Amino acid sequence: MGGIVQIAPLFWLENTIEDVEGVRPYSPLELAGRDIYIREGCYVCHSQMIRPMRDEVERYGHYSLAAESKYDHPFQWGSKRTGPDLARVGGRYSDSWHVDHLRDPQSVVPESVMPKYGFLENRLIDGEYIQDLLETHRMIGVPYTDDMITNARADFTVQVDPDGDWDGLVERYPGAQVRNFDGQPGISETDALIAYLQMLGTLVDFSTFTPDASR
Ligand code: HEC
Repeated sequence: MGGIVQIAPLFWLENTIEDVEGVRPYSPLELAGRDIYIREGCYVCHSQMIRPMRDEVERYGHYSLAAESKYDHPFQWGSKRTGPDLARVGGRYSDSWHVDHLRDPQSVVPESVMPKYGFLENRLIDGEYIQDLLETHRMIGVPYTDDMITNARADFTVQVDPDGDWDGLVERYPGAQVRNFDGQPGISETDALIAYLQMLGTLVDFSTFTPDASR
């Protein structure tokens, strides 16, 4: 039953397989954060698919478009919701809220059953293999350009450095947010994870989106 409820509406939606303006491949730091999300099993408790039903849309925002997950390998739609759907969590909370919440979820949501992920702050990453990661995603169909691959490590590093030269990053990945996400020196796994969480669901501008115009 659950499967039918999730899948059947897609057959009637006009935008199931179309390209949608704004959707782009993940920036290197976002992609690294996404890998951490998968490694830590966040999907065990969180889905990333807002279904086209009223109570969902009122709670989470515009229902998910297929195009929004077209560069996801593997996709994170999920079906288990011990915690809320995260498909549009980007911009809903501040970075420091995420830092506190990852460190100790119960400090911000007392009834939370989410585990603590404070250790991610102490795990520094330098993007040593980020170029390989982008190349792997290109191999399976994500349209990373040569330019994106060549600059992968520089883009990875500069996304947490507002004082750096991030023009190229934002040109390659429109809408990429450049900040020191965890507020601490160095690039930690928390930086990457928050960069990923803060972009989720933000690429499509739903104030101008209409299914027909996107054809
Ligand atoms: C055991 C289940 C479980 C796991 C695993 C889990 N979470 Fe959660 N998460 C929850 C629950 C329950 C909530 C709701 C209460 C709260 O905000 O803490 C939540 C809330 C959240 C929220 C706030 C969502 C909102 O809209 O308020 C974010 C963001 C989040 N989790 C991210 C993560 C990330 C990232 C991971 C992996 C590193 C993760 N969670 C792993 C159960 C889980």
